[in-house]
Amino acid sequence: MIARLVLATLTVALTAAQQELIFRANGTGGVACGNHHHCVTNATCDHKHNMCHCPHWLEGNAKIHCLPPADPKLWIQNDPHIKNFHHEFASLLTPCRYKVLTIGFLTDTGVRAGIELLGNNRLFKGGEYYLTNLTFSMFVNTRDDFMMQSMEFTGDVSEDGKDYILVAKSLRMSTRSGGEGTSVSEESSLWGYTIDVEMDTHNNFLTVVIVELGVKLLFRPPSTSVHVNNKELPLVPGAVFTVDEDHWKSVDFGDSQYNVAAWPDGPSLEEMATEHNMSKPLYVQYLMLNHSMPLIPVEPRGSICEDISKNFHRSCTKDETRVEMVDICSSIYVEKDFLTCLSDKESMDEYEEVQKDFFRQCQISLCQGNVTACEEMRKNMPELTKCPLPLKIQELDCSTVG
Ligand SMILES: *[C@@H]1O[C@H](CO)[C@@H](O)[C@H](O)[C@H]1NC(C)=O
Ligand SMILES: *[C@@H]1O[C@H](CO)[C@@H](O)[C@H](O)[C@H]1NC(C)=O
Ligand SMILES: *[C@@H]1O[C@H](CO)[C@@H](O)[C@H](O)[C@H]1NC(C)=O
Ligand SMILES: *[C@@H]1O[C@H](CO)[C@@H](O)[C@H](O)[C@H]1NC(C)=O
Ligand SMILES: *[C@@H]1O[C@H](CO)[C@@H](O)[C@H](O)[C@H]1NC(C)=O
Ligand SMILES: *[C@@H]1O[C@H](CO)[C@@H](O)[C@H](O)[C@H]1NC(C)=O
Repeated sequence: MIARLVLATLTVALTAAQQELIFRANGTGGVACGNHHHCVTNATCDHKHNMCHCPHWLEGNAKIHCLPPADPKLWIQNDPHIKNFHHEFASLLTPCRYKVLTIGFLTDTGVRAGIELLGNNRLFKGGEYYLTNLTFSMFVNTRDDFMMQSMEFTGDVSEDGKDYILVAKSLRMSTRSGGEGTSVSEESSLWGYTIDVEMDTHNNFLTVVIVELGVKLLFRPPSTSVHVNNKELPLVPGAVFTVDEDHWKSVDFGDSQYNVAAWPDGPSLEEMATEHNMSKPLYVQYLMLNHSMPLIPVEPRGSICEDISKNFHRSCTKDETRVEMVDICSSIYVEKDFLTCLSDKESMDEYEEVQKDFFRQCQISLCQGNVTACEEMRKNMPELTKCPLPLKIQELDCSTVG
């Protein structure tokens, strides 16, 4: 059974921002493979190596999804690392929202569209991040109309790893012809461009499609329960984004933004990092900070992460200072010993805020060259976090930041 819904056609009594769809699923996926995991339906297990394989005419991570080989695709899997369009791996170590991709389209019929995907991880006990939340936005400009739609996807898994709750929340939906919170009719030129949400009840995925752009996004959440080791969930948490081969031809690279997604034929992250004189992990942290503000505005405003993102552009004016700041301060987001210790203390809600605040203080100290702020940070943080400072902050000589 596939529960098919077009959010735009939901009751207009609610404002768009209040619409929320909640799905429940308890699928078991496909065949069991290894000690913990199941493959997706239609995939097979190589029991010798505990590897799932897609049917031979498809390819992908067969614990997440199998897709036609020619379709460009991007994966965010496990703790989370990305396998981008360029088939390149990179860790996405941040508790703040980051941009996964911005893609512009110009179709044969002259329709201009843009989509944007943002990810949000949470830090779990054990010091690992998982992708818990995706924000997906789109604008479409047809001959006679304009539409903007944003949605947020999230979810959770019961402690036994069997029951899934998948949530799709509408953040905004507006058209030029109908105004805010409107629906799109079959006669409209916008029909086929709405963000549609379905559920795969066998594999417990939220399945999101934009039919006329050939865009598909699948998302399976981790469990937020402290009693669950997300590595051992039968169904591996993660997301995959794809544009089918035919529609990829309509991608307008001039209107797209180069970031962690790295285009199939573009330079790799490794090459870009070298060009910017950074290591790849440093460059990825840099990109996630540089591109964290959505082009299509979405809530929330006024969070610590939004501050961090603004400071990055406003307070860190010199490029060398910025790179140095990312190198030093990102240790708060990256250093494994620190993350393990931090996530061992207090509740998730508490340590998450402390971590972001620590980053903000570090950023202000370095970007504004504020010796006092730097010294305060080094003194307060061990008290607040009850953890030893990350190595790069221990080694930081505050008298030199000014
Ligand atoms: C799974 O969900 C279906 C539909 O909600 C329900 O009928 C069924 O009993 C559930 N199965 C288990 C094993 O919980
Ligand atoms: C894949 O599995 C699903 C669910 O078990 C089934 O309905 C579908 O027909 C299969 N598809 C292919 C291409 O084998
Ligand atoms: C999803 O992430 C945003 C920040 O990026 C946050 O404001 C929102 O509360 C999150 N939603 C859920 C359900 O966690
Ligand atoms: C990278 O380093 C080289 C040599 O030190 C320098 O010429 C170049 O301008 C640097 N590039 C950037 C983007 O900083
Ligand atoms: C960082 O962002 C600025 C402004 O958005 C952009 O001009 C610049 O190219 C970006 N730098 C990198 C390395 O992506
Ligand atoms: C430096 O930071 C301290 C403490 O955070 C603050 O009180 C002070 O105003 C800052 N100085 C400047 C010049 O911004």
